Amino acid sequence: MALLPILRFPDPRLKKVAQPVAEVDESIRKLAADMAETMYEAPGIGLAATQVDVHKRVVVIDVSEEKNELRVFINPELSRCEGAQVGEEGCLSVPGIYDKVERAERVAITYMDLDGSRRTLEADGLLAVCIQHEIDHLNGTVFVDHLSQLKQLRIKNKLAKQARVTA
Ligand code: NI
Repeated sequence: MALLPILRFPDPRLKKVAQPVAEVDESIRKLAADMAETMYEAPGIGLAATQVDVHKRVVVIDVSEEKNELRVFINPELSRCEGAQVGEEGCLSVPGIYDKVERAERVAITYMDLDGSRRTLEADGLLAVCIQHEIDHLNGTVFVDHLSQLKQLRIKNKLAKQARVTA
């Protein structure tokens, strides 16, 4: 396994739309394993392939306390969204920034697992938020894109300042 570099907002590569995975082969399983290692190391609760500059529809998520419930979703697609919830979100591509985003309260998705089998999942609460956040990434959307233009400008300035300090 290997740690992968994570793209930082506003990197234009975060805006690319990821392509569906045609076949779940060894290269996809290795990508998912590397993404999981990168997510746990960061640490974070979700990571989309887009964030490591691989534009394939692969997502890893683990919202468990113990970090022992890895979920891998290949070609995840929302089939149902119900209700609304507003929660504070952060993102490994937007370090140190947290803000409120409205999401569906409950979702259903279809996806492929690591064996290439087609599956469905219903989720609510934090898992539902995380799934929507990661599918957004596959479509080239970062959570700050849901915020006002003024907030986005402030975030870009803050991140640019951070980059200068750490460079
Ligand atoms: Ni994110």
